[in-house]
Amino acid sequence: MRLSLRFILPLAVVLVLIAYAVVPLVDNLTERWFIRDLDMRSALIASSMREPLIDKLQTNNTAKLVSYFNRIIQDERLFAIGFCDITNSTLICTKTFPKELGCESIRTLEGKHTRVLQSSRRGLHVTIEPIESEGTVIGKLVFVHDMGFIQRRSTETRKFVFYFFVALGCIISMLTVAIAHMSRRGWIEGTRQLLRGEGYKRSDGKRIPTTPELQPIARDLRTLIRELEGEYRPRDESQVTWSPEALRTILKRELRGEEILVVSNREPYIHVKRENRIEVQRPASGLVTSLEPIMRACSGTWIAHGAGSADRETVDGRDRVAVPPDNPSYNIRRLWLSADEEKGYYYGFANEGLWPLCHIAHVRPTFRASDWEQYVAVNGKFAQAVVDESGTDNPIVLVQDYHLALLPRMIRERLPNATIITFWHIPWPNPESFAICPWHAQLLEGLLGSSILGFHTQFHCNNFLDTVDRILEARVDRETFTVSHGGQPTAVHRYPISIDWPPSPEFTVKPVETCRMEIRERLGVAADHTLGIGVDRLDYTKGILERFMAVERLLELQPEWIGRFSFIQIAAPSRSSIGQYQEFQTQVRATAASINERFGSGGYLPIILKVEHHEHWDVYEYYRGVDLCFVSSLHDGMNLVAKEFLAARDDGRGVLILSQFTGASRELPEALIVNPYDIDQCAASLHLALTMSTAEQRDRMRIMRGLISEFNVYRWAGRMLLDAAVMRRRGRVLARTMAD
Ligand code: F6P
Repeated sequence: MRLSLRFILPLAVVLVLIAYAVVPLVDNLTERWFIRDLDMRSALIASSMREPLIDKLQTNNTAKLVSYFNRIIQDERLFAIGFCDITNSTLICTKTFPKELGCESIRTLEGKHTRVLQSSRRGLHVTIEPIESEGTVIGKLVFVHDMGFIQRRSTETRKFVFYFFVALGCIISMLTVAIAHMSRRGWIEGTRQLLRGEGYKRSDGKRIPTTPELQPIARDLRTLIRELEGEYRPRDESQVTWSPEALRTILKRELRGEEILVVSNREPYIHVKRENRIEVQRPASGLVTSLEPIMRACSGTWIAHGAGSADRETVDGRDRVAVPPDNPSYNIRRLWLSADEEKGYYYGFANEGLWPLCHIAHVRPTFRASDWEQYVAVNGKFAQAVVDESGTDNPIVLVQDYHLALLPRMIRERLPNATIITFWHIPWPNPESFAICPWHAQLLEGLLGSSILGFHTQFHCNNFLDTVDRILEARVDRETFTVSHGGQPTAVHRYPISIDWPPSPEFTVKPVETCRMEIRERLGVAADHTLGIGVDRLDYTKGILERFMAVERLLELQPEWIGRFSFIQIAAPSRSSIGQYQEFQTQVRATAASINERFGSGGYLPIILKVEHHEHWDVYEYYRGVDLCFVSSLHDGMNLVAKEFLAARDDGRGVLILSQFTGASRELPEALIVNPYDIDQCAASLHLALTMSTAEQRDRMRIMRGLISEFNVYRWAGRMLLDAAVMRRRGRVLARTMAD
């Protein structure tokens, strides 16, 4: 439409201009034609009048002559007739003869035909015809014609010419636009067919193969498109403001709006029975924190283990429940596991085997054949659920974490065209450590069913490639970071995970000052009491004991903080059926109690330990109301608590102390980076944080918050999906080439 207007408007203007230029020309021409006609007419009338005129002049009867003239001017166009004798002294004429035309003035007009204005209203044309008798001129006949009819016709002609040009313009425009549209469509379709190598499709449906001469052009065009795509991607990534909307656009534009399936062990919403009610809980899980906003943005289905006590009561006939409960935008498909399956697959192989294997926390991994069998069986169950939930043979499946290492291969076997993006949320150990697992090769083969395999850091990608190189017969390309195993390529890339940005307003709605005040009131401490926070699952990898020891050391080295500083530890119970976790909980409680006994007095507690599940808004209130956050993981893939603390502090205050063994420390050097095993260093950092000037806090916060705002979770997911989109496009081209 816009194209049509762009074309028609200038055309209309040009045609109007032409019409305006042409009308005076046509006017002039028609007037000249009419005058010529009038002159010829006058000559004819003069010749037919000659005889009767001479007769009447001889009788000298002027009255008869006038009446003769009057009869002749009955013609509507002949306005008047006059006769001047040879001496120009006598004028015999009709009454209508213009007064200003005497014989004298007629003499001056001889030889010319002219227009004489009798009045301002109409033009008159004068023609002079000499009258001869026996070879001698005896006088002149003067014919005065009314030119009004010429003007009337000229006006009509002008109108006609104008309308003609308007109609012509419309017809030309319509025809041209129609032809342009048709040929553009045809051209585009033709180019598409050429690029697809399909040849040209004629209107009768027959295909004419691409001629050999056109094939180089098609090849060049394809190369050009590929280059443009390559150039476009990085530009796109750096220019995009990563948000739910940006992610939806990628899905729509790059992945043709295809549905996404997420598969993880942990579900994002758990329904639990509390007395007679059913409550919905959000689990303490980095994985859920990151993926939940993505699913809200993209919809789709999230397949996960239904572990809640009221989960079965809340699903429909196909084991599905729409979430979030207040504003459903995607489905959870729950998978049911027997107690034995959960014990072997989740508690056993995943959390007593792989978890300590991948984390350097000096906890010995335990591998049992019975756990492995359950792990294989449950991964198979998840694979079947993916097949059941997938509406196509080439879904996009996002597989999450170490619970499902065999799943990518199992999906690949069932749905060979699927795009499988696997993300490993925990560290990947070095080859020697990984080889401890008796089923190391099977795990690697399972993961190499993925199209893309993601880790938080480059270090973990390198470790993975080294492990594959050491254990499998595979081609490892360290330039492109691709592994080819059994003809299946897997791209191994770094995608540092992050959080929703900006954080949901419900978490930051309470002003920082109110949070500070209410927390201190609840704890029964003074308004200026300084507070630190730690938020973790109760897990031995999180360095909770080391954190407590650092607080103890601070109070030893800087006793001025006794009675003025407390550390709040929120510890969500986790994997409590595992012996190591039970022991760890006991140790944590005991350490806190011993420090409190040593330095606490009169209601003052240096360590405030809260071993219970906290909802997100409670945690955010603590983040906003404290002076520092201490993340002391002994080993951590990323650690999102660090990022959440920064996101919560829109007041620019607060200090982050961060373990150097977290993935987050690579992105956040403005935090106070510590080695959690170095208790003195950690104590010194606590003191530094508590005495840091407001200006320095703000400077550090500004840089770190800026980074998270840019590298948020939408970018994490968006980058993986963009890579998947490129792969799918290449796959389609390859499939066509093979078909040729
Ligand atoms: O952060 C690592 C992680 O394994 C997540 O992937 C997982 O969701 C989280 O810890 C919690 O573990 P779990 O699901 O066993 O409670």
